[in-house]
Amino acid sequence: MSNVTVIGTQWGDEGKGKIVDWLASRADIVVRFQGGHNAGHTLVVGDQTYKLSLLPSGLVRGKTGVIGNGVVVDPEAFLAEVERVTAQGLTVSPETLWVADNAALILPVHVATDRAREAARGDRKIGTTGRGIGPAYEDKVARRAIRLCDLAEEETLDWKLDELLLHHNTLLAGLGAPTFTKQALKDHIARLAPRILPYGCTAWARLDEARRSGARILFEGAQAVMLDVDHGTYPFVTSSNTVAAVAASGSGVGPAHVGFVLGIAKAYCTRVGEGPFPSELFDVNGTTLGQRGHEFGTNTGRPRRCGWFDAVLVRQAVKVGGVNGIALTKLDVLDGFDEIKICTGYTLDGAAVSVFPSSPAAQKRVKPVFETIQGWKETTFGARSWADLPAQAIKYIRRIEELIEAPVTLLSTSPERDDTILMRDPFED
Ligand code: IMP
Repeated sequence: MSNVTVIGTQWGDEGKGKIVDWLASRADIVVRFQGGHNAGHTLVVGDQTYKLSLLPSGLVRGKTGVIGNGVVVDPEAFLAEVERVTAQGLTVSPETLWVADNAALILPVHVATDRAREAARGDRKIGTTGRGIGPAYEDKVARRAIRLCDLAEEETLDWKLDELLLHHNTLLAGLGAPTFTKQALKDHIARLAPRILPYGCTAWARLDEARRSGARILFEGAQAVMLDVDHGTYPFVTSSNTVAAVAASGSGVGPAHVGFVLGIAKAYCTRVGEGPFPSELFDVNGTTLGQRGHEFGTNTGRPRRCGWFDAVLVRQAVKVGGVNGIALTKLDVLDGFDEIKICTGYTLDGAAVSVFPSSPAAQKRVKPVFETIQGWKETTFGARSWADLPAQAIKYIRRIEELIEAPVTLLSTSPERDDTILMRDPFED
């Protein structure tokens, strides 16, 4: 029996929530392994819409949820989200939601540093979510992070707060932003610790036990490969690795247990925040994609930039991300276009290039090379079988498969869970 890992292959917001929800109904445990509450997953179940940022999507299906050690956890955001979904009728308890006690925490200093730095960057800002993700990961690597387990130890917490404040207050003062007192952070922690600590556990050990007793595990990636801190459009990226390999290190299972890697790709392309986007559209086609696709950030409400499908980037994501099959989403947004374009390559200073360059200066200069495909008039919205799809739409999918060098194994045709065409069951692979 295989596990499944789901990752985004573009810049996030590919519709992972629905796919993860669909797969979660067939899994026993759903694990978040990187990122934090910068993610935004929308799940539509009957007449309820759940907006999750930090909690594993499987909770909506009554599955055990795990927040792995690779996630940065904001206790306030965590508890607020638990409260919100509980008010929507879900049952969430330490029995059904395990949080790795070695996960690094996001505290108000991280949010302040994130925002002060973005403000200081001016035109060169990254467009972060302002939720403290970057500074929290920096502290983890710098070995000064406060981890969930520390909340239970007053003595540890005491000296760790000194280290944290030494760093952040120096930075904040230099940036002209308000600094923090130790007491303010202590009060913040004292208010939240008793409520979050019961969720803390040695998550890797529980996962190991569950795996050995045959549980099916779904690893739920956040963000996407083009936002990966190594492989993405650096420095316009998030602060974690988003590739499938991290499902192992970010949850404490060995790499052999990551299972089938399902990459999610939108049938076109969107991006929030700053950074290069070679196939971006600034014309009416971009506006149409945005309107039809309801392209506004789940978390921030920020409008997403829209463009044609970039096969070069998705091919790159397939290779570095370890993708075995693609789930293509939002095909219906392309219904009714006379012509659809696919970015098949770039030129850089007049020369053809077939990979996205690493340097930010070169990333800015690449020009997309488009191939034009005839569109289709029929609707694909809600299609549940291959036979329901117009011939031109099938042609479009086949061309994408060829260009990205990976099969489309799943097709999502509406936000509804059952409007899904399955070509290959990732759990049976
Ligand atoms: P951070 O993760 O808040 O540091 O933001 C860094 C970059 O990643 C910004 O461009 C964000 O807009 C982007 N980002 C972070 N999380 C998501 C997400 O879940 N979807 C799309 N973009 C995201």
